[in-house]
Amino acid sequence: MCGIVGYLGEQPAFPLIIKGLKRLEYRGYDSAGVAVIDTKGSLTHHRKKGKVDDLLAHVGDDVPTGHLGIGHTRWATHGPPNDVNAHPHLSGDGQLALIHNGIIENYHALKETLIARGHSFYSDTDTEVLVHLIAEVMKSSEELDLFEATRVALNEVVGAYAIAVVDIARPDELILARKSSPLVIGIGECEYFVASDATPIIEYTKNVVYLEDEEVARVSLSAGLKIRTIKNHRVTPVITELEMALESIEKGGYEHFMLKEIHEQPKSIADCLRGRLRLGHGTIRMAGIDDHESMWTEAKRLIIVACGTSWHAGLVAEYMFEDFVRIPVEVEYASEFRYRNPVLGEGDILIAISQSGETADTLAAIRMAKERGAHVFGICNVVGSSISRESDSGAYTHAGPEIGVASTKAFTAQLTVLALVAMRVGQLRGTMDPQQLNRLMVGLDGVPEKVEALLKKESDFKAIAEAYKAAPNALFLGRGYNFPVALEGALKLKEISYIHAEGYPAAEMKHGPIALIDENMPVFIVATQDAHYEKVLSNIQEVKARGGKIIAVVTAGDTEVARMADHTIEVLPAQDALVPILSTIPFQLLSYHIAVMLDRNVDQPRNLAKSVTVE
Ligand code: AGP
Ligand code: GLU
Repeated sequence: MCGIVGYLGEQPAFPLIIKGLKRLEYRGYDSAGVAVIDTKGSLTHHRKKGKVDDLLAHVGDDVPTGHLGIGHTRWATHGPPNDVNAHPHLSGDGQLALIHNGIIENYHALKETLIARGHSFYSDTDTEVLVHLIAEVMKSSEELDLFEATRVALNEVVGAYAIAVVDIARPDELILARKSSPLVIGIGECEYFVASDATPIIEYTKNVVYLEDEEVARVSLSAGLKIRTIKNHRVTPVITELEMALESIEKGGYEHFMLKEIHEQPKSIADCLRGRLRLGHGTIRMAGIDDHESMWTEAKRLIIVACGTSWHAGLVAEYMFEDFVRIPVEVEYASEFRYRNPVLGEGDILIAISQSGETADTLAAIRMAKERGAHVFGICNVVGSSISRESDSGAYTHAGPEIGVASTKAFTAQLTVLALVAMRVGQLRGTMDPQQLNRLMVGLDGVPEKVEALLKKESDFKAIAEAYKAAPNALFLGRGYNFPVALEGALKLKEISYIHAEGYPAAEMKHGPIALIDENMPVFIVATQDAHYEKVLSNIQEVKARGGKIIAVVTAGDTEVARMADHTIEVLPAQDALVPILSTIPFQLLSYHIAVMLDRNVDQPRNLAKSVTVE
């Protein structure tokens, strides 16, 4: 996602927009740009790759005047971060300027139609089609002003958007619209503020209107605020008074970015699925796979390389690919793989998983793989990152910027993309029967709602966190698909609370770790109802027999484990391959609350960095 800011009023727009962009910079910072229209109707347009300060340096003394303007900080989804792809984007005649937060799914089809009508494009973004589409609609009929033309144009658009549009012919009005991406309008004294969230607005006014999905708004100094649906139904604006203090809103109302990102997971998983999971067609569309269909159908094995949490996602993927694609899978620590002399060459597919797309060991591993002739498929969260650029093909997780050092929403987005890839390749290779594939597609489509239901129980986690925050050590156990979830849970706890924690396959406990079990050792175990359930029950008994404490993640309605465990956390039932997306969330929240209770620096834990770009 990105940061959108707009202003219309009696003050100079530029300084207000810049200040607002700085407050939203946490949302994305690949590039920044502004467009300001002065009272004579001339447009000043500045854009720059990098942060808001880079834009300011670029603007220098050429500070735009004018009391109407829009500004944007980008988190790239289509087209690398550079000056050309930076927003605002202009119509062909330079009359309109537009900024956008979201993803236009049908931008390719729209772009082709507009090119056929004589439009030419300068950027790689999906956004640019919007401003050309609005201009095309305006050109089609003299009666349509910018407000109407925007409304009509958005009926052609599929995807997510929060947009602000200005027209040099109308220097006293600002057009807004939203669907799935947030947009807030601040109502001041003879002035209007617009932003992706209330952060840039609250210091000027507490009176805001939250635009709802498929609503288009016009603010003008002469006619005030007007809202319609894109189907042209009138909407009465509902003014809300902001209560939150400025400092809290910077994290969207959450105490830490990590908690905000944990709670963003229903949306980030849905964004990851959007345009790819095509239930109505009974298929999955992954351009990165479909463009290399024969390579995937002929591949003899897969090698997955990653680090940390991304490596745990790779371990879950190993089970997925073995189940759905029926070829051997090796999961490697990138740091080890790059220094070995692995047997690797033509015909091998190496999947590189990385949130940042900048992890030095993973980058080095893919360079070595490419030198030896393997095909590299990159799964990254940051568009235009080094690993995404150097991969031969790939898929973005579209989880939005992940600021908290401890990875949460990126991990569940990685699991979601990996499930899509394994299912799509299984479909292409004929190793998944259509009924099995359809059941999994329906299951995947239902995951965001199940995550939402789980997050609603967050208060239950605090009591458990309170009970174990003083533990010097902890053990995490899981079997099958949930063994990597145990590793991930241990990593979450240790990296933000500094409590020593280890993850093991549950069956492995009796080969050594069981010596650690006593009344001071909390054991966090995934005991959902799957093929390993009965064996996990035995593991729980072994722990209890030695006085250990059991905190179990169970399938909703389970009573068997509840009789043995000290605490249970219920997740809704799901297919085995999808359970890790759910079962990891209790460990994210428990680790978070324990770290907060221990007064740790949750978003920036000691010694850690968000992206390890050094060896
Ligand atoms: C996870 O919480 C950590 N922040 C860390 O293990 C991280 O997953 C690892 O450094 C890999 O980063 P990447 O996904 O950006 O490559
Ligand atoms: N999809 C648009 C782009 O890649 C907008 C991304 C954003 O929300 O910042 O430019």
